Amino acid sequence: MNSMCLHLRTYYRILLAVSFSLAALHAHPQPAKASIRFDAANKAFRIDGGNISYVFGVNDLNELQPIYWGARLGATDGFTQPHTLHEVASFDLSTSVTPQEFAGWGAGLYVEPALKVTFPDGNRDLVLHYVSHHIDGDVLTIRLKDVERDVFVEVRYEMDPATGILGRSAIIQNQTSAPLVVEQAAAATWTLPHGTDYTLDYLTGRWAGEDQLQQEKIMPGARVLESRRGSTGHQNNPWFAVERAHTSDQDAGEVWFGALAWSGSWRITVEQDQLQQVRITGGYNPFDFGYKLNAGETLATPVFYGGYSHDGIGGASRLLHRFELTRILPQRPNPRPRPVLYNSWEATEFRVDEAGQMALAEKAASIGVERFVMDDGWFGQRKDDHAGLGDWYVNKEKFPNGLTPLIDRVHALGMDFGLWVEPEMVNPNSDLYRQHPDWVLNFAGRPRTEGRNQLVLNLARPEVRAYVFGFLDKLVTENQIAFLKWDYNRNWSEPGWPAVAPDEQKQVYVKYIDNLYSILRELRAKHPGLEIESCSGGGGRVDLGIMGLTDQVWTSDNTDPFDRLTIQDGFTYGYTPGVMMAWVTDSPNSFNHRSTSLDYRFLSSMQGSLGVGANLKNWQDADFATAKHLIAEYKQIRETVQHGSLYRLISPRNGSEFFVTESVALDRSQAAVFALLHSSQFGYSYPRIYLRGLDPKAQYRLHWITEKPGGNLPETASGEYWMNGGIDLELKGDFQATALRLDRVQ
Ligand code: GLA
Repeated sequence: MNSMCLHLRTYYRILLAVSFSLAALHAHPQPAKASIRFDAANKAFRIDGGNISYVFGVNDLNELQPIYWGARLGATDGFTQPHTLHEVASFDLSTSVTPQEFAGWGAGLYVEPALKVTFPDGNRDLVLHYVSHHIDGDVLTIRLKDVERDVFVEVRYEMDPATGILGRSAIIQNQTSAPLVVEQAAAATWTLPHGTDYTLDYLTGRWAGEDQLQQEKIMPGARVLESRRGSTGHQNNPWFAVERAHTSDQDAGEVWFGALAWSGSWRITVEQDQLQQVRITGGYNPFDFGYKLNAGETLATPVFYGGYSHDGIGGASRLLHRFELTRILPQRPNPRPRPVLYNSWEATEFRVDEAGQMALAEKAASIGVERFVMDDGWFGQRKDDHAGLGDWYVNKEKFPNGLTPLIDRVHALGMDFGLWVEPEMVNPNSDLYRQHPDWVLNFAGRPRTEGRNQLVLNLARPEVRAYVFGFLDKLVTENQIAFLKWDYNRNWSEPGWPAVAPDEQKQVYVKYIDNLYSILRELRAKHPGLEIESCSGGGGRVDLGIMGLTDQVWTSDNTDPFDRLTIQDGFTYGYTPGVMMAWVTDSPNSFNHRSTSLDYRFLSSMQGSLGVGANLKNWQDADFATAKHLIAEYKQIRETVQHGSLYRLISPRNGSEFFVTESVALDRSQAAVFALLHSSQFGYSYPRIYLRGLDPKAQYRLHWITEKPGGNLPETASGEYWMNGGIDLELKGDFQATALRLDRVQ
């Protein structure tokens, strides 16, 4: 191997020195298989995939030390063995200043460890050294071992050859003869090139206000993104991106990004140490963690995915979208487009019954809806949110003949049928709770804190898992249900598990989620046609873990079409519009009492996976005509919107009056453009829109999705024209919107 000497201390300089032209990178062929190579002489591993190279090695102390993560290096470029960095001062030991791929807490490690354990004799020192490795196709597994005790860790790297997104995880094996307690277990630590000009992007929010993008300069210290709630949570999402030399151009610059595939309590720590080294460590949330690992047992961490883009934050999200569609979603690599659905929740809330739902279904079918979903209220003694959860039998007063007549009617109308469930919850006012009060998360003898009048079933318990799988399986077997909206409407309190020994109770943080995943997996295996939506009071459970087992997510309970623009914008940083459900509901909207036109509401929702949730009984003929027209238009662009390349042309954040997105089909044969206006001020014009991602030499024909606004645009022009000449729209007023489609002329 050529020895272009790569050393961690020269990391940053090398990044500048290794010269790539962007054009050359784009031209890089994408291999069908990733390449994983081990240079035995220099003890360096190199993983290539997409336009990315990832390099690390076994250093002089036998630790795994990162070398390089970024744009693809030359095929013949090699690396020297990494060396531990010298102690900088007696306060900055070599252990802490030398980055590691997966560090045990020991030997004076002051930065975030990947793994921290306590042994029964009180020893809490763990130092992990390389033992062996194994390469199998796109997967590299490395075995590490504590310097003294038989604690082994298998760290795993799986490269996606198309996107260069690397999945990293670990399996901790206790091969000592005594139990130990895992107090902290991350999937991986990612190390950035030395530098200070980094901006961290992350998503925060709350119920009905999800996915607000935050951007801040990375400063010395740690920024902790986490959920301590037992589930993913609305408050932080387990996604991050780091931009180098942040610019306002979405599609330029270097970006490292990652997402954790875990739907339980999680933590991602972004830390810049005293020597300006940035590391990102993520996995199980160590808060209240303490997983007892008996002799011979193993604990697997979730997967922490990481990627790199030289096409800015826009390029980073396009890579993630592609990765989710082809490698994560249950229907990967070619998920079928989301059907246009109708959902009853905002129209009828808990007041569902056979006649009312049939009437809605008829109206929904008339505008082109493909899936009719009955929401909450159909089961047990469910009249409001005080009772019924846990009793998953059909309410006889509302549906005297069961669900079959409604389902048959829905089928006769040409739609398939979906149903709302909230399997992990129980109302104290339910038969289930009266029979099994011990099935919920609780600490013996302590009060049980309710949220929305409900408690959380302890899914870690085998009998609870069996009950939940059993009723879902029965429901789907006995009724022709194509789709379940799987809801989860509160976070944990009192996370106790009195049925097991006190030192095993904290396993609930892992075993609950493992059982959730296994129920979903088993249900899907038994009912292959079934599709599922992950909902948690809107977008409280959106992550790459649940996404591997569900087909779509409910983005937010907030359906105000203007608020939705920022929520949807934030969502797409981490997740594909192909799973982002967006309903058209009534005006004025119940959240902000904002009134908007039906066109505006549709154009907000058509940027994701379209649904309708309005009370169709109140619609006039003109509303039906508008909806029918726009749903038909949506079907012409949905493949492009859901599975294409998204360009966020104008951000709705920071008080912007404007918002523009463009979706381009993968083969560049079509583009869909949505332009929205909050309110005109001082008579200024709408900013010119410059499209991106088109085939410059191809001709594209313009088609207006909504009525043509004023202004002069050619009927047909080149990709160059639309991208360089741009589009001027005459959009004026309050809450105005327009949309257009460009089709490549053959
Ligand atoms: C949650 C969901 C809503 C609706 C209600 C029903 O809030 O996010 O869409 O299903 O529950 O109770």
